[in-house]
This record gives sequence, structure tokens and C-alpha cells, in this order.
Amino acid sequence: MENDKNTFTITDNRTGASYTLPIVDGCIRAMDLRPIKVNPDDFGTMTYDPAFMNTASCRSAVTFIDGDKGVLWYRGYSIDQLAESCTFLEVAYLLINGELPTKDQYEEWRSHIVHHTLVHENIKSLMEGFRYDAHPMSMFVSAMAALSTFYPDSRKVRDARQRRLDIYRLIAKAPTIAAWSYRHSLGLPYVYPDNDLRYTANFMNMLWRKVEPKYVANPVLARALGILFILHADHEQNCSANTMRCVGSSETDPYVTTAAAAAALSGPLHGGANEAVLRMLNEIGSKDNVPAYVKSIKEGKGKLMGFGHRVYKNYDPRARIIKRTAEEVFDVTGKNPLLEIAIELERIALEDDYFIKRKLYPNVDFYSGIIYQAMGFSPSFFTVLFAIPRTVGWLAQWQELLEDKEQKIARPRQIYTGYSRREVVPMDQRGAEVAIPAAR
Ligand code: CMC
Repeated sequence: MENDKNTFTITDNRTGASYTLPIVDGCIRAMDLRPIKVNPDDFGTMTYDPAFMNTASCRSAVTFIDGDKGVLWYRGYSIDQLAESCTFLEVAYLLINGELPTKDQYEEWRSHIVHHTLVHENIKSLMEGFRYDAHPMSMFVSAMAALSTFYPDSRKVRDARQRRLDIYRLIAKAPTIAAWSYRHSLGLPYVYPDNDLRYTANFMNMLWRKVEPKYVANPVLARALGILFILHADHEQNCSANTMRCVGSSETDPYVTTAAAAAALSGPLHGGANEAVLRMLNEIGSKDNVPAYVKSIKEGKGKLMGFGHRVYKNYDPRARIIKRTAEEVFDVTGKNPLLEIAIELERIALEDDYFIKRKLYPNVDFYSGIIYQAMGFSPSFFTVLFAIPRTVGWLAQWQELLEDKEQKIARPRQIYTGYSRREVVPMDQRGAEVAIPAAR
């Protein structure tokens, strides 16, 4: 190792000792730092990386992002080509199995998914129990977790055949549960899946069918939804994928694990941003108010929702495809008046030093909500539309985790900043040193 150029030599100036660490794939292993200590009783050196800014937590062959170049690939295929040439179920097959399907493989895959689109009738009763104004994402998270109660065998996560069955079930049932959460918000009866229809058209059937005997989806909208699903299907180690892996590492069943990932997605800094963008555009109200709004953001009054990304420091490639898709959707639905405000906001922000210096560009959530609203969805449903396709990515990440011999239960370290040991004082002798914040 002494002569190997793929190493770091670290000198500990506290002791003068020198250590040689291998560099593999551009990384050093944090555990290689542990032997660096001042004396034998030391715990050893750790790395400190809040929010995982510079820490790889796994090896993955699913998705590749080059944030500086604005590149996104699933299993080596560029997102532009996949969006242009494939259906969502083909891309789902690719993410889960590693290759695009042949015709026969696709038919078999589709028939497995179709076979599992129904949910147990008790899921219906569960959903009926939610309040009329329950947030659709909260219903989605709860119902996905509840699926666990129907499939106790799903706890056998080390059994590859069992895992495969649960993967079919989750991909198949996510749209059914999502559509029912939508119908619940509107007080409409739930619609059962129509397995003659393709994945997105069937989803539209469960969303929008009224009394017609057979729902016929508008092909442009069904294709646009398919493209949006493809764009949202995976995004390597983001907050929700990391949640899927972290929770899954304790060998939880995939239903509660997916529910945990969906909960992580629901926050406004992650998938909840699409809903927040719509609220922001409504608050801005008109194109003329955009400069004042941008000024307020620069003064620290909040964030420009749908802007910025931990990884992309160039344009988010998904946003570019979404912008194109928007035009096709608007030809059918008519233009969403918020588009004008969004375009002006993007124009002004991209010319502004504050955003240029910080490399803040529109992300996937900036334009998706405008399309969803034009299609007739309310903002509270947008994140559910993100969660359906992302279920596939979560499952691909989960499967990879379970097949990775290097992985163990996730358990970070901490730097303890609290008191050193102290004695308990009887209640009548304690002072009220800490003011408890009042509840709202
Ligand atoms: N508007 C205004 N300023 C911003 C924004 C924004 N949207 N995003 C980051 N900044 C500023 C931030 O205040 C900081 O400034 P300074 O250096 O002066 O302190 C600088 O840019 C670096 O930001 P950061 O917070 O260190 O960046 P991060 O990588 O931790 O956060 C992010 C990434 C996506 C959470 C953040 O950009 C953000 O909150 N954006 C708005 C929410 C959003 O659109 N989220 C969707 C992300 S894409 C889809 C998904 O993940 O689901």
C-alpha cells in the first residue's frame, strides 16, 4: 500500500503518527479513520457530515446524476430518451430488473401488475374513516402502511420470491390507493381498477370516471401523465430513498417501509414542493408582482419554492422535459394562467445575482404543479402524484439494499453536546431553568 498512488497519507499532528488510507471509487472509508487515535482508550476518529453533504451511504447501480452537467440516467439510459420512447411500466421494469423488457417480458410484467391492482375491501373502510378534509398525502401514507396488515408474509424480506410478489403488489396498488384518496377528498364513490386500460389510463379511470360504463382517457393527457411518472420514478439517494433504505435496513416489511419513504417525500423541501409552488404562484397573483416577490426572497423572507437542488447545480433535466410536456397538455386543457407568472419568475430569478451565485435553477417541482392543475388536480394531491411513480424507485433501492452484503442496519454516530453526568434533584428543589414553548 505504501507505493500505491490510490491512497491518502494522513499525519495526525497530535501524535505525529502517519496513516495510509486506500482510495476506492474516489472515497475513503470512514471506518479507516477509526484507528486514528491519541491513545489506546480513545474511541478513534469519526467523520461529521450533517445532512450527508459528502458521504456515500451505499453502492448503487440504479440511477446516475451528474449535478454539474444536468444529467440523469436510469440504469444507464438518459431520462430524455426514456421519456421519449418508453411507457412508465417499461421504465418501472428497467428500474426493478436492470434492463428494458423484451415484448414477452413486458407482457408478463404487465400481467403481474394488473393482477394486483385491487385492494382488500377493508382498505376502503379504512379510507372512509378519514375526515372529509384529510390531506390526500396523509391518507396515502396511512393506507400504504395499512397494506402491511393484509400481507404478514411480507416480513420475510430475505426471501427473493416474496419480495417480488410485494413489489408487484405495491406498484399495482399505489394508483388505486392514490385515486381513492382523491375521490375521498371530493366525496365521490371510489372507482375500481379497469385492467383493460394501461397503467396511467387506469389511474385516470379511478380518478375521474363518473357514470359512464367505460372510461376513455384522453391519450395526450394519459401520455403526459406517463412522462411525468417516468421523470419522477427515481432520483438516487434523496431524502425519501434514504428513508426507504434506512427504515428497510432494520428488515421492516416493504409496506410500512414505503409508507415511511412517502412520509419523507411529503415535506415541502422534498416532494411537497410541487404543492408549495402552486401556493406561491397564487400568492404572487400576477406577473407584475414577481420583482417584489423575488426581492422579498433575497431579503430572507422564505424560499423560492421549486428552485434549488442539493445535487443539480445546473438546470434540472426533468424540469426541461416537463416544460415541453406542459405545452402538449395545454393544447388540450387550455393554458394555466399561472404559467405566465412562473415563466416570469424563472426569467427574473435566472438573471439575478443571488440565484446565479448560489446556482439555483428550477427543479422538477417548478412546472409539474402547473400541469397537474391544468389537468384538474388540486394542489394537495400533487405530492401523491409524485409518490405513485417514486414507489418504483423506492422498491428498486430497497431491493438493492437487501441484496448488498455490505449493508447492515443503518445507525449513524453522533457528537454528544449535552451535559456530562449530573444528579437528579427532587422536584420541589428544582428551578424552572428552561422555558417550555407555548403550544399554538
Ligand atoms: N430560494 C432561495 N434561496 C435558496 C433556495 C430557494 N429555493 N434554495 C437554496 N437557497 C439558498 C440558501 O438559503 C443558501 O443560501 P446562503 O448560502 O446564503 O445561506 C444557499 O442557497 C444554499 O442552499 P442550501 O439550503 O444549503 O441548499 P440545500 O442543498 O441544503 O437545499 C433544497 C436544497 C432543495 C432543500 C433547497 O434548495 C430548497 O429548499 N428549495 C426549495 C424547495 C424545493 O423546491 N424542493 C424540491 C427539491 S427537488 C425535488 C425533490 O427533492 O423532491
